[in-house]
Amino acid sequence: MFPVLLLLLAQRQTQSFDRDWRFHLGDVPGAEQAAFADAKWRKLDVPHDWSIEGAFSEQNPAGVAGGALPGGVGWYRKAFSTPAGDSGKLVFIEFDGVYRNSEVWINGRSLGKRPYGYSSFRYELTSLLRFGARNVVAVRVDNSQQPNSRWYSGSGIYRHVRLVTTDPVHVDQWGTYVTTPVVTAESSQVSIRTIVRNERHAEQAIEVRTTVYDSSGKDVAGSFVRARVPADSVVEVPQDLTITRPALWSLDRPYLYRVVSRVLCGERPCDEYTTHVGLRSFVFRADSGFYLNGQPVKIRGVCLHHDLGALGAAVNTRAIERQLEIMHAMGANAIRTSHNPPAPELLDLTDRMGFIVMDEAFDMWKKEKNPYDYHLDWDAWHVRDLSDMVRRDRNHPSVFIWSIGNEVMEQWNNGDSTAAPLARELAGIVRALDPTRPVTQAANNGSPDNPVFHAGALDLLGHNYHHEVWKDFPAQYPGAKFIITEAMSALNSRGVYWQPSDSVAVYYTPYEKNHGPQPPKNGRLSSYDNSRAFWGSLHEESLRLFERYPFLSGIFIWQGIDYLGEPTPYEWPARSSYFGTVDLAGFPKDPFYLYQSVWASPKRPMVHLLPHWNWARGDTIDVWAYTNAEQVELYLNGALLGVRRKTEPVSHLMWRVAYKAGTLRAVARTGGIAVATAVVRTAGAPAQIALAPDRARLRADGEDLAFVTVTVRDGRGIAVPTAEPLIRFRVSGDARIVGVDNGDEISHTSFQAHQVRLFNGKAVVIVRAGRKAGTATVTAEGRGLAPATVRIALRSPSP
Ligand code: GAL
Repeated sequence: MFPVLLLLLAQRQTQSFDRDWRFHLGDVPGAEQAAFADAKWRKLDVPHDWSIEGAFSEQNPAGVAGGALPGGVGWYRKAFSTPAGDSGKLVFIEFDGVYRNSEVWINGRSLGKRPYGYSSFRYELTSLLRFGARNVVAVRVDNSQQPNSRWYSGSGIYRHVRLVTTDPVHVDQWGTYVTTPVVTAESSQVSIRTIVRNERHAEQAIEVRTTVYDSSGKDVAGSFVRARVPADSVVEVPQDLTITRPALWSLDRPYLYRVVSRVLCGERPCDEYTTHVGLRSFVFRADSGFYLNGQPVKIRGVCLHHDLGALGAAVNTRAIERQLEIMHAMGANAIRTSHNPPAPELLDLTDRMGFIVMDEAFDMWKKEKNPYDYHLDWDAWHVRDLSDMVRRDRNHPSVFIWSIGNEVMEQWNNGDSTAAPLARELAGIVRALDPTRPVTQAANNGSPDNPVFHAGALDLLGHNYHHEVWKDFPAQYPGAKFIITEAMSALNSRGVYWQPSDSVAVYYTPYEKNHGPQPPKNGRLSSYDNSRAFWGSLHEESLRLFERYPFLSGIFIWQGIDYLGEPTPYEWPARSSYFGTVDLAGFPKDPFYLYQSVWASPKRPMVHLLPHWNWARGDTIDVWAYTNAEQVELYLNGALLGVRRKTEPVSHLMWRVAYKAGTLRAVARTGGIAVATAVVRTAGAPAQIALAPDRARLRADGEDLAFVTVTVRDGRGIAVPTAEPLIRFRVSGDARIVGVDNGDEISHTSFQAHQVRLFNGKAVVIVRAGRKAGTATVTAEGRGLAPATVRIALRSPSP
């Protein structure tokens, strides 16, 4: 018994510190003091975003670019007791991210501040803790200086918090660095650097025993090394292992190994630390792009901001996973974490699901984009923030590219000498910590004079927009490697089809009103691929060129999914973006299917028809189809309207049709064989509500989510694409409604309401599981409609 107990006591303990915080919106003098009376404060769990709970208003200082939601100051406090038996141990508190300007206190003593809202950080609590007694952590979050962002940031402790207890001799924070210098089908070399910290005031003899396990738990390689760690210092312990016949990490089979580092202090186990790794090789070539494990792969990516739509910025693993599933279904294989370090959960998911990630540090350097943005913190913090991002994320096999910035203002100033030295400094910081991945920067100054391109700092020249100059790159920058860090900025609302589809509308931002056509007054844009921001392109335009040029290793669409804020080309009452191929609620817009027709596996034949088929008699409607088949026949009420062949891989097929109610049917054929069909029917009057949860079972872990799609159907069961009734929800069982949304960019209904109006026939209600197993029942009601009920099983999470 005794040795087992000793072993357990010696191991590090990582406990979630998310539950049972007290929260107060607004500044309060003295709230950092341990004795401060917080009993009247609201009780909540983090991750938490107070902005998403607020009301939309034009007056909110973040502006519509910030989502028209409030910022301000908020306080969080949490009391906890530390076992007396832990007094010989070290205790740390880890925050994955607090937006922004956080200061943390333990028992009334300040531990430090962290301005950047996207950095992960930790503090050691040990010397200020009362072991065997009550302790209080207080966090002040200051997001009051506005505007400080070009998109919705959220406010508060919006990522997870943990308490970590270790021996004084332990593996440091982010204390392993695993690389794979040689990866072949026969064997893989794995190089592991373990950083061991000794906080004792005496030298310590240690042994690091490292074991690599495959995904079935089998031990496939191991090594042990002895070392001495001087008092109050750190050592880096190198180990080189070989794995024979390795299972490689690839996009189709993202295979992960588990590296377990066990530290012994003499005979006593003093730490155990786990790192997940994937074995893969990759290279970027100037003439032919990206290769993964020796195979050419086009990086077909999307930019994503960090918000989770109706849930705001508060991290939820299932909500991120759903976003990635939707992007996978579109055929995307890459994510750019525009324009900041992501939540760690995103990278765990991309490792597991098989995505290529461009991990991006900053949206600005020393020069501002907004009066209160990170440029104010640049001098004091950029080295630390950039280093921490690389140290935190460098073991993730899904991370392939580091980006040191997006469209920084320094790139424009040819006469200014700051751009090149800064680019070199930042790239140098990254390379010192991880020389295994290329460094890029996303530039929208496509001119060959852009000083950042000539700094000699970048491994990959990253370009945003300007597809008309892509063809010139190889001649302009001989020998350079290219990636399109951002493109498109095409504009659509879901399910809106009243624009003529044979003309292109180019919209300007509110600030450039006098330059060209104004967006229509009603705050909605067409869902045909026929409108774009003036610096952008239609989806088809850039995609066609990208697929054509082998020297372009990758592209990242702006944007995969709509996000809160930046409602270009509108101002208030719009409050979220129009750039996504998917709306804010997670429903695909029509251009989603353009990408699917080019990017998703040709083994899955598809055809998608637009628009809906509820028009007035006498209308002439352009019918489009996206398909990956050779040709499509279109029938209206059984009569053939014509056959269209695909002559260009990136394209839509079109028929101009005199509207008659009934059934529109597309039959897609390859080699004469019907491989896919799509049907659109004229719907009658709304009669009944339909609920479709994305999953029938949830884990009863207090976090899992069901996204329930809400539609209305006519008497024959056909979904009504134009219906916009108000639907109310009730949930019974141990579950609750945590968000509603319909994807409408100008809706001002709170995302936390228990009712929502459908927007073009659709809405989503998000239900969160409690911690008790059982059944949750979601009921939806609306005036004049037959109600709907759906049951969702809540299963105890496996231990
Ligand atoms: C880009 C920028 C993005 C977003 C986009 C909208 O220039 O990098 O953050 O603002 O424009 O079109």
